[in-house]
Amino acid sequence: MEYRGYDSAGVAIINKGLHVYKKKGKVANLEESLVAKDMHAHAGMGHTRWATHGEPSDRNAHPHVSANGKLAMIHNGIIENYARLKQELINKGYTFKSDTDTEVLLNFVQDIQQNNHCGLEEALRIALKRVVGAYVLVLLDADNPDTIIAARKGSPLVIGVGKGEHFLASDASPIIEYTKEVVYVNDYELAIIKADELVLKNLGNEKLTPFIQKLDLQLAAIEKGGYDHFMLKEIFEQPDTIFDCLRGRLDVQASTITMAGVQNNIDKLKNADRIVMIACGTSWHAGLVAEYIFEELCRIPVEVEYASEFRYRNPVVRPGDVIIAISQSGETADTIVAIDKAKEQGAFIFGVVNVVGSSIARISHAGAYTHAGPEIGVASTKAFTAQLAVLTMIALKVAQEKGTIDQKRYNHLLNELHEIPEKATAVLRQSEHIKKIAAKYKDARDFLYLGRGYNFPVALEGALKLKEISYIHAEGYPAAEMKHGPIALVDEHLPVVFVATRDSYHDKIVSNIQEIKARKGKVLAVITEDDTTITGMADDTMVVPAADELVAPMLSVIPMQLLSYYVGILKELDVDKPRNLAKSVTVE
Ligand code: F6R
Repeated sequence: MEYRGYDSAGVAIINKGLHVYKKKGKVANLEESLVAKDMHAHAGMGHTRWATHGEPSDRNAHPHVSANGKLAMIHNGIIENYARLKQELINKGYTFKSDTDTEVLLNFVQDIQQNNHCGLEEALRIALKRVVGAYVLVLLDADNPDTIIAARKGSPLVIGVGKGEHFLASDASPIIEYTKEVVYVNDYELAIIKADELVLKNLGNEKLTPFIQKLDLQLAAIEKGGYDHFMLKEIFEQPDTIFDCLRGRLDVQASTITMAGVQNNIDKLKNADRIVMIACGTSWHAGLVAEYIFEELCRIPVEVEYASEFRYRNPVVRPGDVIIAISQSGETADTIVAIDKAKEQGAFIFGVVNVVGSSIARISHAGAYTHAGPEIGVASTKAFTAQLAVLTMIALKVAQEKGTIDQKRYNHLLNELHEIPEKATAVLRQSEHIKKIAAKYKDARDFLYLGRGYNFPVALEGALKLKEISYIHAEGYPAAEMKHGPIALVDEHLPVVFVATRDSYHDKIVSNIQEIKARKGKVLAVITEDDTTITGMADDTMVVPAADELVAPMLSVIPMQLLSYYVGILKELDVDKPRNLAKSVTVE
C-alpha cells in the first residue's frame, strides 16, 4: 500500500491489549523500529499516510488511539466538520495528541459509546450520521479482540475473503498474495469482520449480502520483475500494455473495433451534442489529446475539464452531453465528485479506467477498461499510453458509426494503431542514449517543453513528469504560445524540449525551434527518425518511428518518460515515491 502514501506509517495489533507503533517516513523506518518486537496477533492493521491534517510526524501517523486507550483507528479521507466536533469534545474535557481529523473522529466515537453505553458498531453508526466528508475507516477495539470494523464513504475499501482469514485494503494489490476472492465495499456500508466471518451492513443496521468477485490479477504484475524501479518497469511494459489494450478489440484484417461499452451505447455517443472529458493530472493530458482526436474524427465539440474545477463551478451540463471520465486509479476524489455532479444533471457517463472494480468504473453508466495492469510507480506512464489507445479506438468507432470518417482513413488508422506496440519497442531501444542526454541536462534549474497539435499535451505531460520525478521546475506550453510570454525565460542555460514529430505542424515548429536557437536556448527535440531538418538544428535529439500524427503521442511521450526517469535517478531521488505525492488522490 505504500505507493498510496509514504510520509509516515504505523501498525496496531491486539495481543493481550492494544499495541500501536508509528514512525515518520517510509515503511522501512517503521519496520526497522519493530525488529525486536513481538508482532504476533490475530487481528491487526497498518496504515501508510499522505498528510492532510497535520505535518508528517510520529504523532500524526495512523493508527490513532482513543482517549480511553481502547480503540484504534486508521482513516483515509477528510472529515470536513472535524473542527466543530473537536470543539465539542474539548468542551467535554478531551485532549488531543495529534493534529489530525482522524483522532477527533475516533474520540467522537468513543464519546458516543460511553454516553450511550453501546458497542463500537452502534457508536460508529451514530457517529457517521454526523460526519461530513469522505472516509474509509478501520477500527480495532481492545475489548473485542477478534473483530475489525470498517466503514466507507467516498474512499475505496476492498475486503479479501480467505480461508479462516480476511484482509482489508484500499485496493486489491496487497491482497492477491493471499486470496483472489474479494468484496468491494460500497459507500455508507459497514463491514464487521472476524477471522471466519464477514458481515456487511448499511448505516440503517440492515444486513447486506456481500458480492464476492474473483480477481483476475497475477502477483508478478505488482512486482518489479528485475527492474530497478516500478517506473522503469512500467515504461518498458508499454509495448505489451498497449498490445493488451488493443487485443480482442482491434481487428485490422476484419477492419473492426469491438468494444461492448461503446457498441451498447452507440446512439448516445454518436448523437452527443458535446463531449466533456473530465480528469486530473496525466489523465487530463490524455483527455487533451483525445479532444483533438474526437473533434477531428467525430466532429463533436469536446471540452476538457479539470475535475477539481468542474465540480465547484456551476457547469452547464445537459442530458445530450456525454462525459468521458478518465482515471488510472478510478478512485480520484475530484473526478468522482465531478461525475456525480454531471450525473445529477442528466449527462451520460462513460468511464475510461484502469483499475477493474474501482469506484469510477462502478459509478459510470458504461465504459472501457484500459487493461494496462497495476501501475505502482507514483508517476503515471503506461496508464497514459493505454488511455490514448482506448480513447483513439472509441473515437474511431464513433466516427465510423457516425459516418464522419471515410473507409480509407479508418483502415489506415486501424493499421497505425496496430503498429504502435512494435514502434514503442523501437523507441525504448534508445534508453541508454536518453540517459546520456539526462546526464547532460540534469543540473538545469528550469525546463521548457513545447509542442503543437497532438503533441502539445505531450509537452505538458513531459513537463509534469520532470517536475514530479526530478523536482526541476518545468513548464509545458503550446509552441506558438511561447512568443506571448515564456520566451522571456530563454537564455543559454534553459533546456527547451520540443515534441516535434513529423506532422501537419512540422514547418511551424521548425520555425519555433529557430526562435529558441536565435536566443541561445538549448534545444532537445523528439523527432521522427528521418528528420534531418531538426537534427541539424537541435543540440540533442530523441527519435521515434514515423506514425500518423493522431497516434504519434503514444510514441513521443516515451522519450519524455525516460528523460524524467533518468534525470531522477541521476539526481539519486526516489523515482517510485517522489516527495509529497501519492498514487491515488482520494482526498479533495
Ligand atoms: C502524474 C499522476 C497524476 C495522476 C492524477 C490522476 O504522474 O500520476 O497526475 O494522473 O492524480 O489520477 P487518476 O488517473 O488515477 O485519476
